[in-house]
Amino acid sequence: MAKRNVLYGLLAAVGILFILYALVQNYILDPEASAFLDYKAGAVREPNVPVWLKVMDVHVAFACIAMATGLLNFSNRIYGKSRRFHRVNGYVYLVSVLVVVATSGYMAPYATGGRIGSMGFNLMNLLWPFFTVMAIIQIRKKRADSHRNWMIRSYAFCFTNLLIHLITALLHQGAGVGYALSYTIAIYGTITLLLLAAQLVIRTVAVARR
Ligand code: HEM
Repeated sequence: MAKRNVLYGLLAAVGILFILYALVQNYILDPEASAFLDYKAGAVREPNVPVWLKVMDVHVAFACIAMATGLLNFSNRIYGKSRRFHRVNGYVYLVSVLVVVATSGYMAPYATGGRIGSMGFNLMNLLWPFFTVMAIIQIRKKRADSHRNWMIRSYAFCFTNLLIHLITALLHQGAGVGYALSYTIAIYGTITLLLLAAQLVIRTVAVARR
Protein backbone atom coordinates (compact mmCIF):
# COMPACT_ATOMS: atom_id res chain seq x y z
CA MET A 1 0.00 0.00 0.00
CA ALA A 2 2.79 2.43 1.00
CA LYS A 3 4.60 1.62 -2.25
CA ARG A 4 1.49 2.51 -4.28
CA ASN A 5 1.13 5.81 -2.42
CA VAL A 6 4.76 6.70 -3.13
CA LEU A 7 4.22 5.83 -6.80
CA TYR A 8 1.08 7.99 -6.96
CA GLY A 9 2.80 10.88 -5.15
CA LEU A 10 5.63 10.75 -7.66
CA LEU A 11 3.23 10.63 -10.61
CA ALA A 12 1.22 13.55 -9.20
CA ALA A 13 4.34 15.69 -8.62
CA VAL A 14 5.72 15.11 -12.13
CA GLY A 15 2.24 15.45 -13.70
CA ILE A 16 1.36 18.74 -11.96
CA LEU A 17 4.78 20.28 -12.66
CA PHE A 18 4.56 19.30 -16.32
CA ILE A 19 1.01 20.63 -16.74
CA LEU A 20 2.17 23.98 -15.29
CA TYR A 21 5.26 23.96 -17.52
CA ALA A 22 3.21 23.18 -20.66
CA LEU A 23 0.69 25.95 -19.91
CA VAL A 24 3.29 28.62 -19.08
CA GLN A 25 5.64 27.69 -21.95
CA ASN A 26 2.97 27.43 -24.66
CA TYR A 27 0.49 30.15 -23.72
CA ILE A 28 2.71 32.74 -21.98
CA LEU A 29 6.42 32.40 -22.76
CA ASP A 30 6.33 31.25 -26.39
CA PRO A 31 2.76 31.31 -27.77
CA GLU A 32 4.14 31.58 -31.32
CA ALA A 33 6.24 28.41 -30.79
CA SER A 34 8.98 30.42 -32.49
CA ALA A 35 11.89 28.39 -31.16
CA PHE A 36 10.26 25.12 -32.25
CA LEU A 37 9.08 26.39 -35.63
CA ASP A 38 12.55 27.72 -36.45
CA TYR A 39 13.68 24.11 -36.79
CA LYS A 40 11.09 23.56 -39.51
CA ALA A 41 12.43 26.28 -41.79
CA GLY A 42 13.37 24.75 -45.14
CA ALA A 43 11.59 21.46 -44.42
CA VAL A 44 10.05 19.58 -47.36
CA ARG A 45 6.57 20.14 -45.91
CA GLU A 46 6.17 23.45 -44.14
CA PRO A 47 2.96 24.02 -42.17
CA ASN A 48 0.58 26.95 -42.58
CA VAL A 49 1.82 28.63 -39.39
CA PRO A 50 -1.36 30.42 -38.19
CA VAL A 51 -3.42 27.24 -38.64
CA TRP A 52 -0.67 25.08 -37.10
CA LEU A 53 -0.53 27.39 -34.05
CA LYS A 54 -4.31 27.25 -33.54
CA VAL A 55 -4.27 23.45 -33.77
CA MET A 56 -1.31 23.35 -31.37
CA ASP A 57 -3.21 25.51 -28.85
CA VAL A 58 -6.10 23.03 -28.88
CA HIS A 59 -3.59 20.14 -28.72
CA VAL A 60 -1.85 21.50 -25.61
CA ALA A 61 -5.10 22.46 -23.86
CA PHE A 62 -6.59 18.98 -24.25
CA ALA A 63 -3.24 17.34 -23.46
CA CYS A 64 -3.30 19.19 -20.12
CA ILE A 65 -6.92 18.12 -19.51
CA ALA A 66 -5.94 14.50 -20.29
CA MET A 67 -2.99 14.71 -17.90
CA ALA A 68 -5.11 16.21 -15.09
CA THR A 69 -8.18 13.97 -15.48
CA GLY A 70 -6.00 10.86 -15.78
CA LEU A 71 -4.09 11.79 -12.65
CA LEU A 72 -7.32 12.27 -10.67
CA ASN A 73 -8.66 8.91 -11.78
CA PHE A 74 -5.58 7.04 -10.52
CA SER A 75 -6.28 8.31 -6.99
CA ASN A 76 -7.74 5.56 -4.79
CA ARG A 77 -8.98 8.19 -2.35
CA ILE A 78 -11.04 10.02 -4.98
CA TYR A 79 -12.35 6.73 -6.39
CA GLY A 80 -13.35 5.67 -2.85
CA LYS A 81 -15.31 8.88 -2.39
CA SER A 82 -17.20 8.92 -5.68
CA ARG A 83 -17.42 6.30 -8.37
CA ARG A 84 -19.64 8.61 -10.37
CA PHE A 85 -16.87 11.22 -10.50
CA HIS A 86 -14.42 8.51 -11.63
CA ARG A 87 -16.77 7.50 -14.44
CA VAL A 88 -17.57 11.02 -15.70
CA ASN A 89 -13.95 12.12 -15.35
CA GLY A 90 -12.88 8.98 -17.21
CA TYR A 91 -15.04 9.91 -20.19
CA VAL A 92 -13.59 13.45 -20.13
CA TYR A 93 -10.15 11.76 -20.29
CA LEU A 94 -11.27 9.64 -23.27
CA VAL A 95 -12.58 12.69 -25.18
CA SER A 96 -9.38 14.62 -24.39
CA VAL A 97 -7.23 11.77 -25.71
CA LEU A 98 -9.27 11.73 -28.92
CA VAL A 99 -8.87 15.51 -29.36
CA VAL A 100 -5.10 15.31 -28.77
CA VAL A 101 -4.87 12.48 -31.31
CA ALA A 102 -7.01 14.35 -33.86
CA THR A 103 -4.84 17.47 -33.57
CA SER A 104 -1.75 15.29 -33.67
CA GLY A 105 -3.10 13.82 -36.91
CA TYR A 106 -3.05 17.32 -38.42
CA MET A 107 0.46 18.14 -37.15
CA ALA A 108 2.12 14.77 -37.81
CA PRO A 109 2.75 15.28 -41.57
CA TYR A 110 4.78 18.39 -40.70
CA ALA A 111 6.74 16.73 -37.88
CA THR A 112 10.26 17.93 -37.25
CA GLY A 113 12.58 15.38 -38.82
CA GLY A 114 10.30 14.65 -41.79
CA ARG A 115 8.66 11.43 -42.88
CA ILE A 116 10.24 9.12 -40.31
CA GLY A 117 9.18 11.41 -37.47
CA SER A 118 5.65 11.57 -38.93
CA MET A 119 5.48 7.77 -38.94
CA GLY A 120 6.41 7.68 -35.25
CA PHE A 121 3.64 10.13 -34.38
CA ASN A 122 1.16 8.19 -36.49
CA LEU A 123 2.09 5.04 -34.61
CA MET A 124 1.26 6.90 -31.39
CA ASN A 125 -1.98 8.09 -33.01
CA LEU A 126 -2.96 4.42 -33.29
CA LEU A 127 -1.57 3.11 -29.99
CA TRP A 128 -2.92 5.79 -27.65
CA PRO A 129 -6.62 5.60 -28.60
CA PHE A 130 -6.35 1.79 -28.84
CA PHE A 131 -5.06 1.50 -25.25
CA THR A 132 -7.67 3.97 -23.99
CA VAL A 133 -10.62 2.32 -25.73
CA MET A 134 -9.39 -1.11 -24.54
CA ALA A 135 -9.44 0.21 -20.96
CA ILE A 136 -13.07 1.33 -21.37
CA ILE A 137 -14.10 -1.96 -23.00
CA GLN A 138 -12.50 -3.93 -20.14
CA ILE A 139 -14.33 -2.02 -17.39
CA ARG A 140 -17.62 -2.35 -19.24
CA LYS A 141 -16.99 -6.10 -18.95
CA LYS A 142 -16.28 -5.55 -15.21
CA ARG A 143 -12.62 -6.53 -15.51
CA ALA A 144 -11.11 -4.00 -13.11
CA ASP A 145 -7.49 -5.26 -13.15
CA SER A 146 -7.36 -5.32 -16.91
CA HIS A 147 -9.02 -1.86 -17.02
CA ARG A 148 -6.34 -0.47 -14.70
CA ASN A 149 -3.52 -2.00 -16.74
CA TRP A 150 -4.78 -0.58 -20.06
CA MET A 151 -5.27 2.82 -18.43
CA ILE A 152 -1.67 2.71 -17.14
CA ARG A 153 -0.51 2.01 -20.72
CA SER A 154 -2.75 4.82 -21.98
CA TYR A 155 -1.74 7.37 -19.36
CA ALA A 156 1.96 6.78 -20.07
CA PHE A 157 1.41 8.63 -23.37
CA CYS A 158 0.59 11.81 -21.45
CA PHE A 159 4.34 12.02 -20.90
CA THR A 160 5.13 11.94 -24.63
CA ASN A 161 6.05 15.60 -24.96
CA LEU A 162 8.06 15.67 -21.73
CA LEU A 163 10.14 12.67 -22.76
CA ILE A 164 10.60 13.83 -26.37
CA HIS A 165 12.02 17.14 -25.12
CA LEU A 166 14.19 15.42 -22.50
CA ILE A 167 15.75 12.99 -24.99
CA THR A 168 16.10 15.70 -27.66
CA ALA A 169 17.90 17.98 -25.15
CA LEU A 170 20.22 15.17 -24.07
CA LEU A 171 21.17 14.34 -27.66
CA HIS A 172 21.17 17.88 -29.08
CA GLN A 173 22.54 20.02 -26.25
CA GLY A 174 24.30 17.18 -24.45
CA ALA A 175 25.90 15.25 -27.29
CA GLY A 176 25.85 17.78 -30.14
CA VAL A 177 23.61 15.69 -32.44
CA GLY A 178 21.61 17.84 -34.95
CA TYR A 179 18.19 18.99 -33.69
CA ALA A 180 16.04 17.23 -36.31
CA LEU A 181 17.87 13.91 -35.88
CA SER A 182 17.76 14.21 -32.07
CA TYR A 183 14.01 14.87 -32.26
CA THR A 184 13.42 11.90 -34.58
CA ILE A 185 15.39 9.54 -32.33
CA ALA A 186 13.49 11.02 -29.36
CA ILE A 187 10.10 10.14 -30.92
CA TYR A 188 10.98 6.43 -31.18
CA GLY A 189 12.90 6.44 -27.88
CA THR A 190 9.82 7.90 -26.22
CA ILE A 191 7.47 5.24 -27.61
CA THR A 192 9.82 2.48 -26.41
CA LEU A 193 10.44 3.97 -22.96
CA LEU A 194 6.76 4.74 -22.32
CA LEU A 195 5.72 1.18 -23.19
CA LEU A 196 8.46 -0.22 -20.93
CA ALA A 197 7.65 2.20 -18.09
CA ALA A 198 3.96 1.24 -18.27
CA GLN A 199 4.82 -2.47 -17.99
CA LEU A 200 7.09 -1.73 -15.04
CA VAL A 201 4.35 0.23 -13.26
CA ILE A 202 1.80 -2.53 -14.00
CA ARG A 203 4.16 -5.08 -12.45
CA THR A 204 4.95 -2.90 -9.43
CA VAL A 205 1.25 -2.27 -8.77
CA ALA A 206 0.47 -5.99 -9.11
CA VAL A 207 3.23 -6.91 -6.62
CA ALA A 208 2.14 -4.16 -4.20
CA ARG A 209 -1.45 -5.45 -4.26
CA ARG A 210 -0.44 -9.01 -3.31
C1 HEM B 1 -0.29 14.58 -23.35
C2 HEM B 1 0.78 15.34 -23.31
C3 HEM B 1 1.23 16.15 -24.50
C4 HEM B 1 1.58 17.47 -24.47
C5 HEM B 1 1.63 18.38 -23.25
C6 HEM B 1 1.91 17.85 -25.83
C7 HEM B 1 2.36 19.09 -26.21
C8 HEM B 1 2.86 19.41 -27.44
C9 HEM B 1 3.50 20.64 -27.79
C10 HEM B 1 3.77 21.79 -26.84
C11 HEM B 1 3.86 20.55 -29.10
C12 HEM B 1 4.56 21.65 -29.92
C13 HEM B 1 5.98 21.29 -30.19
C14 HEM B 1 6.79 21.15 -28.95
O1 HEM B 1 7.09 22.15 -28.29
O2 HEM B 1 7.13 20.00 -28.62
C15 HEM B 1 3.43 19.28 -29.57
C16 HEM B 1 3.62 18.84 -30.84
C17 HEM B 1 3.15 17.65 -31.32
N1 HEM B 1 2.52 16.66 -30.60
FE1 HEM B 1 2.05 16.75 -28.66
N2 HEM B 1 1.73 16.77 -26.65
C18 HEM B 1 1.33 15.71 -25.88
C19 HEM B 1 1.07 14.43 -26.30
C20 HEM B 1 1.10 14.02 -27.61
C21 HEM B 1 0.77 12.69 -28.08
C22 HEM B 1 0.38 11.52 -27.18
C23 HEM B 1 0.91 12.71 -29.44
C24 HEM B 1 0.67 11.59 -30.41
C25 HEM B 1 -0.34 10.76 -30.27
C26 HEM B 1 1.34 14.04 -29.82
C27 HEM B 1 1.58 14.47 -31.11
C28 HEM B 1 2.18 15.66 -31.45
C29 HEM B 1 2.62 16.02 -32.79
C30 HEM B 1 2.47 15.19 -34.06
C31 HEM B 1 3.24 17.26 -32.69
C32 HEM B 1 3.94 18.04 -33.80
C33 HEM B 1 5.43 17.71 -33.74
C34 HEM B 1 6.25 18.43 -34.76
O3 HEM B 1 5.77 19.36 -35.37
O4 HEM B 1 7.40 18.03 -34.92
N3 HEM B 1 1.45 14.81 -28.70
N4 HEM B 1 2.80 18.60 -28.56
